[in-house]
Amino acid sequence: MSQVEILEVAPRDGFQSVKPFIATDTKIALIEGLAECGFRRLEIGSFVSPKALPQMADTPEILKRARLPKSLRVMALVPNAKGLERALEAGVREVAWVVSVSESHNSANVRRTVEESFRDFAAAWQGLGKDRPRLRFGLSTCFDCPFEGRISEDAVLRAVERVIAAAPEVEIGICDTTGRAATDHVGSLLARVLPRFAGERVTFAYHGHDTYGLGVANAIEAYRQGVRVFDGAAGGLGGCPFAPGAAGNTASEDLVFAFEHMGVKTGVDLAKLLPMADRVAAVAPEQAGGKVRIVPRKRALAGYGAETRGLPG
Ligand code: COA
Ligand code: ZN
Repeated sequence: MSQVEILEVAPRDGFQSVKPFIATDTKIALIEGLAECGFRRLEIGSFVSPKALPQMADTPEILKRARLPKSLRVMALVPNAKGLERALEAGVREVAWVVSVSESHNSANVRRTVEESFRDFAAAWQGLGKDRPRLRFGLSTCFDCPFEGRISEDAVLRAVERVIAAAPEVEIGICDTTGRAATDHVGSLLARVLPRFAGERVTFAYHGHDTYGLGVANAIEAYRQGVRVFDGAAGGLGGCPFAPGAAGNTASEDLVFAFEHMGVKTGVDLAKLLPMADRVAAVAPEQAGGKVRIVPRKRALAGYGAETRGLPG
């Protein structure tokens, strides 16, 4: 039986895109609810500058206070050595370091040249010695940059090579930061990347946004090319504040629906996730997205073995 992992990123990519500060207690309640839906891993917050992204300033407090199952893997985003150090101090055992393929997005996002970001990473990572956390290396703007437009596949290949040279054991996130990737572009890039670089120590994840409605199609194409880990956000929340024009992440519930419909197991309980997705979407209804959440619930869950009596539809 084929299976995939849906990594829930609303508590990072989702929340960071919301301007008014979401109360820490609200974030914790949503995170605890999401942790009950069957996800193996959640991305919770980031250790970034509170001046750059005030919404993420309570990440250490959230990680301290949230009651999460022991088996749940918790990942947090870090943009630099200071973020990595703070994450380790907070007890995080899995970090997502981000660098963009495009120079202008990297500069808008982390105020460094790509060269500087890679150099910072290599130094910080080597400095950790053996006691390193698990590593996701998120390569932003693998397809499209809000400032430079289409990104060349060769540039992505070079970036992947560079990541692996610095960290031979890594999960590399291929990110469509703006959601503008066309599905054939996803296919052609991954058909070059996976056969060449994927292996036991190097795995790939697909991180998509649904700005143009291609989020699920792109994820399925990535699956066909061999990717087995997909980032999604409950309620379709999300977006990089430093990538103008980017809308929410592909909704986790849409990914779960699509894969389960194809007979690919996700481990996520859609009947539990849909009401949670509503709660996440309610944080910023005008920014929320996704399709399955707005289908009458009984119909959306039909055939999933869930109790649908009494539900509308
Ligand atoms: N966590 C907390 N504070 C940090 C920090 C971190 N990871 N990195 C830097 N800082 C603080 C420094 O201590 C310094 O504080 P001070 O002014 O009180 O002395 C200040 O921020 C400036 O430090 P500097 O290293 O010059 O950072 P910068 O101003 O060049 O900003 C980043 C670089 C990466 C810290 C900032 O751009 C950032 O946090 N970006 C967020 C990126 C992001 O999350 N994007 C969305 C997800 S992809
Ligand atoms: Zn994103």
